[in-house]
Amino acid sequence: MFRTRFFDALSLLLPSGEAFVIDAISDALQAHGGQGLPSPALREEALRFVREEAAHQRAHRRYNERLAQSGVPVAALEGRVAAAVQELAGLPLPTRLALAEAFEHLTALLSAQVLEGTAWLQGNGREARMWRWHCEEEVGHRHVASDVARALGVGHARRIACLALAALYLGIDLSRLLAGLLWRDILSGQVRPLGLLGQAARFALRTAPGVGRIAIASLACLFPRRPA
Ligand SMILES: [Fe+2]
Ligand SMILES: [Fe+2]
Repeated sequence: MFRTRFFDALSLLLPSGEAFVIDAISDALQAHGGQGLPSPALREEALRFVREEAAHQRAHRRYNERLAQSGVPVAALEGRVAAAVQELAGLPLPTRLALAEAFEHLTALLSAQVLEGTAWLQGNGREARMWRWHCEEEVGHRHVASDVARALGVGHARRIACLALAALYLGIDLSRLLAGLLWRDILSGQVRPLGLLGQAARFALRTAPGVGRIAIASLACLFPRRPA
């Protein structure tokens, strides 16, 4: 139950988060009269990135519809995430690109851990296969937002500040959604608080090495990039 709800909470976050990164990369493609990304190879990568994120968004909307059918108040929960993401939509393009790079960086680090072994994800059902597909594409296009931000001259200090902000946003939103879903499960009698605590402790223990690797790899971002 705890593991399932962790991924459910992640799925509720994703459609709005993906809309944010799609908009940032699409605006970068249009920047400077369409000359913001002069490299044809990077333009092609950016277009592929947008196509992949749009496909992820559709898959998670279907996943979230199934959650709604099971009684989860998906519209209200997604609405709260969308309102939080909307606050970021008015920021200048360089800041949005730095945030998109940070969200993509954190997503790719988590995806790499999810794909490794069975600590995070188990089984081979429809939902598990969808997560693996999504994680593989996240790892595959992990460099694109960073390359786009670099091409548009986004500075190191802005990238670091946005990484901290993105980690905070993700941490708070994910915890809030997860707590809300679990609280509903407790109130509806689907799970007992003590049993849930045990599940949470086992999940935390199993994923602790992966969380450590994500934290270390995130900190590696603090070092300035070498020029391309
Ligand atoms: Fe995605
Ligand atoms: Fe992505």
